[in-house]
Amino acid sequence: MAHVERIVTIELPGERKPVPAGLLDMQEIGATTAFSRFSYGLRYVDRPNAMSVDPMSLPLGGSLIDVAPYGALELFGALRDATPDFWGRRVIENKLRAVPGSLPESVFLDHAGPNRVGALDVQKDQKGAPLPSALPKHIELEYLMEAADRVEEGLPVPAQLEHFFTGAPSLGGARPKALIVDDGYQWIAKFPARGDVLDMAWLEYATLELARRAGLNVPSVRLVSLPGKRNVMLIQRFDRRTEAESFSKRHMISALTATGLHEQQSHTSSYADIARAIERFGTAGGVADDRIELFKRMVFNILVSNDDDHLRNHAFLYDAENHGWRLSPLYDVVPRPSSTHERFLHLGVGPDGRASHLSNALRGCGQFGLSTRQAAALIDDVASVTREWMGYFEEAGVPGVLIEQVRSAFPRPSDVGLAEVVKHL
Ligand SMILES: Nc1ncnc2c1ncn2[C@@H]1O[C@H](COP(=O)(O)OP(=O)(O)O)[C@@H](O)[C@H]1O
Ligand SMILES: [Mg+2]
Repeated sequence: MAHVERIVTIELPGERKPVPAGLLDMQEIGATTAFSRFSYGLRYVDRPNAMSVDPMSLPLGGSLIDVAPYGALELFGALRDATPDFWGRRVIENKLRAVPGSLPESVFLDHAGPNRVGALDVQKDQKGAPLPSALPKHIELEYLMEAADRVEEGLPVPAQLEHFFTGAPSLGGARPKALIVDDGYQWIAKFPARGDVLDMAWLEYATLELARRAGLNVPSVRLVSLPGKRNVMLIQRFDRRTEAESFSKRHMISALTATGLHEQQSHTSSYADIARAIERFGTAGGVADDRIELFKRMVFNILVSNDDDHLRNHAFLYDAENHGWRLSPLYDVVPRPSSTHERFLHLGVGPDGRASHLSNALRGCGQFGLSTRQAAALIDDVASVTREWMGYFEEAGVPGVLIEQVRSAFPRPSDVGLAEVVKHL
């Protein structure tokens, strides 16, 4: 059993240097985390602008010393969010030339670096963190993609491509990606993966633009074509703000953390659980809007068959002015073509569970604080845009072949219950 101690730092709103928030104590057996504890620093909790590291496991109003993670978690949700998942782990294993699956959590926690999601970071000692290196630029995308290809193939990344390691180990999700800076903003570049049968970059780009047309809160996205007809999607980071010469951080947690759940429990969870987290942690003025936005996202996912809508694909950002958590902008929405008639989302929709059907969404609307009439109007609004998806995709330049390939992901709204919904308008 190895005993690991780390200082958890946080960049507080309006401050440009991270400050120590507390001490993390972990026991690891090989690659397994046996348990972890956290103690807030007393100087930290006295700060007027202190915020909780993790609202579920570590509320500032609760016990402050030697706290265990919420529920069945081995590691605090917010620290799990600040540690890469599948992709970033492969990158770190590649960098350290380690056998996949052999490294303990603390190694991933240490190597995610200052560009990780949200405002947290970890340090081994009091010496302070080294200054972060500058991230790669747009012009380096081709090199970054080459490095990402090598990680996927399990080949070492050669020295001339090492700049890739400045941002890529920080990122969550499973698909290959890297961080870049362009036009003064930070962007996540999502690359094509080995074995893709569809052009995922184009598809995600066009779908996020469609979501924007449907009135959802979507970050800026771009499509970049690299030689070899390989497309890359860029999405602007919403947990970074551009300041003179650098970036400030916004604290961010996944919906998995906000609901206090374990990864394996995501499948038994629901949109209503996220709506409850909005109610519990949201700001006074934000709850109603965020529940409407969430409801619309669920409806949009039904209408584009995005069934990868798990709890790590929803997130919250800390709103320091209003002292609470707001639903983050939308990300990772991709239609999945399917020949089956009956479809399911990953998360529960309404009284018929995960059934991807508009009447299921309508009947569950009370969980979002909506009347049936309000919910019917929201559904009708979203459907009036997704119904025209093909036109919007053409406008976004999506090639006809790709449109054909994904056609089955877009059910006609009337085939997924719109008729029953509009009766309530
Ligand atoms: N625009 C963004 N700003 C900040 N963080 C983001 C943004 N988009 C995604 N993320 C974070 O990066 C993670 C991986 O991105 P995602 O698009 O979900 O990739 P994947 O398709 O591999 O799952 C997300 O779970 C989220 O934590
Ligand atoms: Mg994802």
